[in-house]
Amino acid sequence: MNSDFMGWLTTIMASLFISWTVYLLLKRFYFRQKEFRGWLKRPHIQQTLAILKRLYHNVNAVEIARKAWQQRQFRDYAFIYGEIDLISFIAILEAAQLKSDDIFYDLGSGAGKAIFTAALAFNFKVCKGIELVPELYQLSCQLKQQLPKLMTQIEFINADFLTVDFSDADVVFINAACFVGEAWQAIVAKFIQLKAGTRIIVGSKELPIQHFNLMDENLRYMSWGKAMVRIYRRFDTV
Ligand SMILES: C[S@@+](CC[C@H](N)C(=O)[O-])C[C@H]1O[C@@H](n2cnc3c(N)ncnc32)[C@H](O)[C@@H]1O
Repeated sequence: MNSDFMGWLTTIMASLFISWTVYLLLKRFYFRQKEFRGWLKRPHIQQTLAILKRLYHNVNAVEIARKAWQQRQFRDYAFIYGEIDLISFIAILEAAQLKSDDIFYDLGSGAGKAIFTAALAFNFKVCKGIELVPELYQLSCQLKQQLPKLMTQIEFINADFLTVDFSDADVVFINAACFVGEAWQAIVAKFIQLKAGTRIIVGSKELPIQHFNLMDENLRYMSWGKAMVRIYRRFDTV
């Protein structure tokens, strides 16, 4: 009798555990995807995608970056070029729980795709892209000329982001696959100085959990394939 009861209890507990796990998996992969597909159909998102596809139709940023690499004889991996995938990036920003009065930065903004996507799809108050390679910086400025409505919202800066003060950021994005060693440590040290609540979206790297809460972690498409993208929130500093 007692062992029958224990047997039933174990079966019930195991069934509950399996159902809960299945529910969590469905919630994570299926319901969220379904919700996101519905969200993608919204007119302003469709409009954003149409504008960006037109804007980048004849742009080969990889080739521009490759030529700059050759001419300037870069040795540093940090200048290897790859960029966001538009739809995946919209999903990433959606997962970062944004507000339209947020200040958004892309560190190493390349041809500016992430900045234009953030400005058009999420209407951030201020979007700043910092890019060290002059050819890529100039390209992003030329593309900006084609979107006069975004003139005051978007700023591109030609500089090493380690020398720029981005402490006013609410959201920072860094596609960090090619930042390694001391360069990555210097970037993390700057992130630790950011104000509490700042969200930091990091492609292909992790931040130390002593300073940041992990809000979201997902494999996302990039121009070179899939990469793990993590969204962190800076802890309260009190
Ligand atoms: C992987 S690409 C990312 C481009 C863009 N953020 C995207 O995801 O579409 C990295 C960019 O960072 C730039 N970069 C590398 N080190 C930099 C630095 N110290 N300061 C500013 N830009 C830098 C490279 O030139 C390159 O354009």
